[in-house]
Amino acid sequence: MDPEQRQLKLHFIPYPAPGHLIPLCSIATLFAARGHHVTVITTPSYAQILRKSSPSLHLHVVDFPAREAGLPDGVEIMSASTDLESASKFHRATMFLRVPIVRFLEQHPPDCVVADFVFSWVHDLANTLRIPRLAFNGFSLFAVTAMESVKSHPEIHSDTGPFVIPDFPQHITVSSRPPKTATAFLERLLGTEIKSDGLIVNNFVELEGEEYIQHYEKTSGHKAWHLGPACLVTKSGDDRGEKSVMSENECLSWMNSKQAKSVVYVCFGSMCRFPDKQLYEIACGLEQAAHGFVWVVPEKKGKENESEEEKEKWLPKGFEERNAEGGLIIRGWAPQLLILGHAALGCFLTHCGWNSTLEAVTAGVPMVTWPVAGDQFYNERLVTEVRGIGVEVGATEWKDVGYGEREKVVSRDSIEKAVRRLMDGGDEAEEIRRRAQEFRHKAMQALQEGGSSHNNLSAVIAHLTRFRDPR
Ligand SMILES: *[C@@H]1O[C@H](CO)[C@@H](O)[C@H](O)[C@H]1NC(C)=O
Ligand SMILES: *[C@@H]1O[C@H](CO)[C@@H](O)[C@H](O)[C@H]1NC(C)=O
Ligand SMILES: *[C@@H]1O[C@H](CO)[C@@H](O)[C@H](O)[C@H]1NC(C)=O
Repeated sequence: MDPEQRQLKLHFIPYPAPGHLIPLCSIATLFAARGHHVTVITTPSYAQILRKSSPSLHLHVVDFPAREAGLPDGVEIMSASTDLESASKFHRATMFLRVPIVRFLEQHPPDCVVADFVFSWVHDLANTLRIPRLAFNGFSLFAVTAMESVKSHPEIHSDTGPFVIPDFPQHITVSSRPPKTATAFLERLLGTEIKSDGLIVNNFVELEGEEYIQHYEKTSGHKAWHLGPACLVTKSGDDRGEKSVMSENECLSWMNSKQAKSVVYVCFGSMCRFPDKQLYEIACGLEQAAHGFVWVVPEKKGKENESEEEKEKWLPKGFEERNAEGGLIIRGWAPQLLILGHAALGCFLTHCGWNSTLEAVTAGVPMVTWPVAGDQFYNERLVTEVRGIGVEVGATEWKDVGYGEREKVVSRDSIEKAVRRLMDGGDEAEEIRRRAQEFRHKAMQALQEGGSSHNNLSAVIAHLTRFRDPR
């Protein structure tokens, strides 16, 4: 840091769900690495992890009010909720965090507060304290821009089927329409976010595309700084708040026994739970595609006294025996970065959560896209149509959340076809693979000296310094 320049004091307030919290804390370490004083406000269990993984961060710990919201003690992370009721209790609990956080900020006002956009009340607090507020939401700016466009065209909800994103830099057709309820919640949050002093984005300029950044800055009237990919900042696999059920060594030795680019990795993130019927279809699709696979299935709690057979009815009879050699099922959390980075990996069947998408991009792995909820249907367009680093499985059911009943099932034939498009060779697959590699290099360069994310970090620091020390 320039010795003339007084250190900035920054407070980061992440939302306690893995997809939000992990990338924002990685970004916080970037500011600390430039010599600024960074405090992360978080709950005890995550503080414990950060203390080890990111010693450059200061921590302010607030208790998680699980019991006040009717949750069992010890619940602190969003992915612990697998139904709507516990998810809304969880959300209520996070809203109780407001009181202790406000108190802390009033007593220790920083030069800038960087908060997850779910904590929209930080807006008023920052105004009262007269400090700039930057917002973070864990989405790509591409998705935010699409959401903003949809927000000003409510007629989109009055029909079903694919739609063209209105007032968008490019002609993009999304395969399904956002459900009205989830959208209303998001739109409220985005409405406050747009009034912030700027946006911190976990992405890099080259993947986003200058045209989308310009469009966003023009329509929102503030800047968006691209500082990612966060997954390249902190690489340690253990920073995610959950332990893998399979050790890295076990997983590594399994992958090592496979040929280059021969394995399909299947994982739908920490928040998605498919019904048995859909899991069964995935199993059949994988078997028909006839390539090796690593398939991550969230651990099933099972009902009380449910027999093993009952619990496992989502698997076709004899599936595991038939695929003992070529397939690996991981029940629970998996060492994703290790799998994505392995030479044996051929493609990633993903729900297109932004965190997972970026991890695939930085590993240079082509994707089969299967969006489910949230921003995922927009991310699918960016990955397939706009950047050409993946192919669609053909999902058309956009849900409020990743779990619960579903009307449609993606068929085994669609799964087989999409996987084969990437795994059976041919010109199209080669071209997609080449572009995926190209974006991997661009991602690495972005964070290096002179790269776009490195420059954007300098720019946001200069911006905040000017704000604090006006000439
Ligand atoms: C998100 O990214 C981090 C690294 O930044 C990674 O460790 C983690 O597995 C990813 N996935 C989720 C769901 O948090
Ligand atoms: C489960 O089994 C135990 C012991 O057999 C029994 O006491 C209990 O009532 C059963 N619970 C349910 C929900 O059936
Ligand atoms: C981020 O970096 C890009 C490419 O280097 C640059 O064009 C853009 O102006 C930067 N954005 C901000 C907000 O400084």
